[in-house]
Amino acid sequence: MDQSSASLPGKVAIVTGAAKGIGAAIVTALSAAQATVVVSDVDDENGRRLVGRLEGSDKAVYVRADVGNAADIDNLFQQTLAKFNKVDILVNNVGIRYRKSMLEISDEEWDRVITTNLSGTFRCCQRAVRIMAQQRSGCIVNITSQAGVFYSRGQGCHYAASKAAINQLTRVLSFELGPLGIRINSVAPGSLSNDSVFGEGSTGSEAIFNESAPIMPRSLENVPLRSLGSAEDVARAVLFFVSEQSRFITGQTLLVNGGVIV
Ligand SMILES: NC(=O)c1ccc[n+]([C@@H]2O[C@H](COP(=O)([O-])OP(=O)(O)OC[C@H]3O[C@@H](n4cnc5c(N)ncnc54)[C@H](O)[C@@H]3O)[C@@H](O)[C@H]2O)c1
Repeated sequence: MDQSSASLPGKVAIVTGAAKGIGAAIVTALSAAQATVVVSDVDDENGRRLVGRLEGSDKAVYVRADVGNAADIDNLFQQTLAKFNKVDILVNNVGIRYRKSMLEISDEEWDRVITTNLSGTFRCCQRAVRIMAQQRSGCIVNITSQAGVFYSRGQGCHYAASKAAINQLTRVLSFELGPLGIRINSVAPGSLSNDSVFGEGSTGSEAIFNESAPIMPRSLENVPLRSLGSAEDVARAVLFFVSEQSRFITGQTLLVNGGVIV
C-alpha cells in the first residue's frame, strides 16, 4: 500500500480484532506508517504470527483481549500504558456477525452481538479517552458496516443494529471529545472481496442468510465503481482518519463501499 500520505512515527496505536482480515490490514498499514502497534485479539496464534511478520516488529506487540469482557479491556489498556506510556490511536475493529433472520436469533446470540460489538466498542473508547484526555490528543476509528447505514441484504438485524448504534455513538461522542482534543470517526465497509479479507478460497460472511447461496453479495451493476473493495481499501480510510490529513474531521461515518447508497 502507498503510505506516502500518512506518517505516524512515535504514535502508539491499539487495534482490536487485529489478528486477521481487515484488522490485520489496518495493523500492517499503521506499522508501515511507522506507528507502534498493539495487536489485540482472542486468536493468539494468528495475532502473534502477524506481529512476527511486521517489519521492525520490536514496535509491535500482541495482547490478548476479548472485547466482550470488561476486565480484558482494562488489561489491554493497562498493558499498553505499562509498555508504551500513552495511547494515540484506537481502532475498534471487532465485529461479530451471524447470517440469521430475526426468528432464528436466540436471546443469547442477540446479547453476544450487542455486548461484543456495541458495548465492547464503547468500553474501549471510554478506556482510551481516559488516557487521551490527559494527553489532550488522540484519534479513534470505529469499523462499522454499510449494514449500519442502510439495509444490507443478508446481514442479521442484531449486527446491523449494533453497527448503526456505533455510528451514532461516534457522532454523539465527537461533541464530548472534540473539546478534549480527541477526534472520533467511523469507517463503514461494504461488501469486500472475500479473498482479500478471509484468504483465498474462503466463504466470507457478509453475503446472504442462505449459507449455500453465491458469495457475491449484490450485483456489481449496483456498485458505481463496479468492483468489490479490499481490506486494504478499508485500511487506507483508517490511515486518513488517524493522520493530520483529517485534522478538521470528526463525528463522521465514511462508507468504503464503491459508492453504493442503497
Ligand atoms: N469482511 C467484510 O466484508 C466486512 C464488511 C463490512 C464491515 N466489516 C466489519 O469490519 C470488521 C472486521 O471484519 P473482518 O471480516 O475482518 O472480521 P473477522 O470476522 O475476520 O474477525 C477479525 C478478528 O476479530 C477477532 N475477534 C472476534 N471476536 C472477538 C472478540 N470478542 N474480542 C477480540 N477479538 C475478536 C477474530 O479472532 C478475528 O481475528 C468488523 O467490525 C466487521 O463488522 C467487515
